[in-house]
Formats: sequence, C-alpha cells, structure tokens
Amino acid sequence: MAEPTRLVIRRPDDWHVHVRDGAMLEAVAGFTARQFARAIVMPNLDPPITTAGAASAYRERIRAALPGSDFTALMTCYLTDSADPRELASGFESGVFAAAKLYPAHATTNSAFGVTAVRNIRPALEAMQGIGMPLLVHGEVTDPDVDVFDREKVFVERVFAPLVRDFPGLKTVFEHVSTKEACDFVLGSGPNVAATVTPHHLAINRNAMFAGGFRPHSYCLPVAKREEHRLAVRRAATSGSPKFFLGTDSAPHVVERKQSACGCAGIFNAPFALESYAAAFEEEGALDRLEAFASENGARFYGSPLNEGRIVLERVAVAVPDTVAGPGDGLVPFHAGETLEWRFAGAE
Ligand code: DOR
Ligand code: ZN
Repeated sequence: MAEPTRLVIRRPDDWHVHVRDGAMLEAVAGFTARQFARAIVMPNLDPPITTAGAASAYRERIRAALPGSDFTALMTCYLTDSADPRELASGFESGVFAAAKLYPAHATTNSAFGVTAVRNIRPALEAMQGIGMPLLVHGEVTDPDVDVFDREKVFVERVFAPLVRDFPGLKTVFEHVSTKEACDFVLGSGPNVAATVTPHHLAINRNAMFAGGFRPHSYCLPVAKREEHRLAVRRAATSGSPKFFLGTDSAPHVVERKQSACGCAGIFNAPFALESYAAAFEEEGALDRLEAFASENGARFYGSPLNEGRIVLERVAVAVPDTVAGPGDGLVPFHAGETLEWRFAGAE
C-alpha cells in the first residue's frame, strides 16, 4: 500500500504543558494554542498556583496572551503539604481546577513547595477521590542516594503502588512516563490509572544529552533513559491502550538558563509537537493510532467531551529552526536543526 501523504484527525489536546507567565507566556502560548484545542496547564509558577483565585487569574492572563483564539486552558492546583481539601473541592466543582499536581518537593523546576510525604496530603487525596478530581503525578523520588536514572522506577515501588492501593478510586495520571517500569505499572493498574507521554521520551534516549558534547537542550526531568526504556514508552503509547495519551511537557526556559553551570530541566517542544509525535508513530507503524492517543484517550479519561473540529498533517518536510522568537536570545525548540517528515497544516 502507498504511504499516506495526508492525515486528518480530530483536533487534539495537550494534557501536560508549561506555558509560564509574563514575557515567556506571551512568547510560547501561541505555539500550544495553534496545535491544540485544550491543554492542562501546569501550576509550577513562582510562586506556585495553590488557590482557585490564583488559577483563575492565571487563566485570564493566558486568555489575554491569545487574543482571538478559542483555546481552552485547563488549570491545575499545585499540592503542598498543607493543601486544603475544601479549596481543592470548591475549585474543582466551580470549574476552575481540572486536576491537582503532585510534585515531590525538590523533584524539578519550582518544586520547592512540593509534597514532602504523601501522608501529608491524605485529606486532599480523600477529597479528590470522593469528587472524581484527577491527581497528576510527577513520579520521581528525590532521595539523593537514588541514582537519577532510577528515580522513576523507585517511585513506582515506594510511592505510586502504595498510593494506588490506598486510594483505589482516585483517578491518577503518571505524567511523562520515561521507563518500562512506569509503563508496566500503568498497564497493570485499573482503568483509573493513566499516563501522559511526551514527544521527547518517544524520540530520544539518554545518549542525546551527550552527543559529541554536553547537550543541555536535551535535558529534562524525568531525564531520558536507556534505549530499552524509550522503546517501552513507544510500545505503550502506540499500543492502542486508552491509558496512554498526549502530554507534551513542553517546558521553555530562556537560553541563558539552559546553557549554564546549573542548567534548568525542560525541553521546549510546543512549536513542532504534533510533527514529532507523528514521526514516532509512523516509525512504529502506528499512524492509525495517533488520533486516539492525541485526541480521544485523554478527553475520555478526564471525562471531557471530544473536540469537534479536525486538523491536517501533511507529509511535507519541515526544517526545524535553531531558535524561535522568545525572551532573551530566543528559545531553542526540540528537534532544532533537524528535518521532520510530517507538517501540521492547521484546521481541515
Ligand atoms: O523537564 C522538566 N521541566 N520537567 C519538569 O518536571 C518541570 C519542567 C519545568 O517546569 O521546567
Ligand atoms: Zn511538566
């Protein structure tokens, strides 16, 4: 059969993105809104978004950065040790919060106020379980004795498995899975445990950080792992299981903060996100499964309606620029300098 040259799919959503604030928000929001109808917006601002009031003010700033767009920002609450179950419940029930995010304290960017032990947020988790509010999990332990490449695997054993046992009715999303162990855990859990998959964890293994020299633009958290893990993540994402869905984890940082003696974690993939996913799905012979992954599984998990419109991907080579406009000297997009085979061509 001839290779397809055009792919029309239901309008997709991004179930995990960092759009930041201020000048960075202005620079990056349009990339996400151009490709996706809705996105789950991460709350790790400085200071973090911990109240419904702060989330709705942030949602207004996102709207203001996207004049004329019909994009919907779905807001999240950053959980701290003192998370207030009533604030979570009222924020969820009033439609401000779509979910709450568990960052283990010090696991990643702006996570200093994160959760130091799951037992501290039991009242919050009980409330969330009772009302069907999803818990989004950054699944890495922070114990400095645990090798950085093992932090997700150890989190499964020490934290995620007990959490799912204790809160069997809680909807949980294992964000940005990067290991075989995380994929197996999600596959082996009930239907209320799902996962997001980033384009970069489908595309790169840990060698990308050291290709001919140190490559800070390939550094993110969870850090890319060995090839066997990348292949396991690819198998899970393209398996057709409804538990896996699109979440870019696009995480822009100004170049000065990436190329630094202590560079920030984060890969800015929003400008060519669908192009990157399409490449991975095609390489797995699974282009026919891209639509469910990108446009159906996440919405179904969250209990949101499917988007109505359709978008087009064309088999047209796209040269990814070295930088895109943004604060400072510009931002370095994922796949900078590469050519991708599929091009996002907008609404049908
Ligand atoms: O690479 C990452 N960047 N991982 C995260 O968990 C946070 C994110 C960010 O906010 O920069
Ligand atoms: Zn993230």
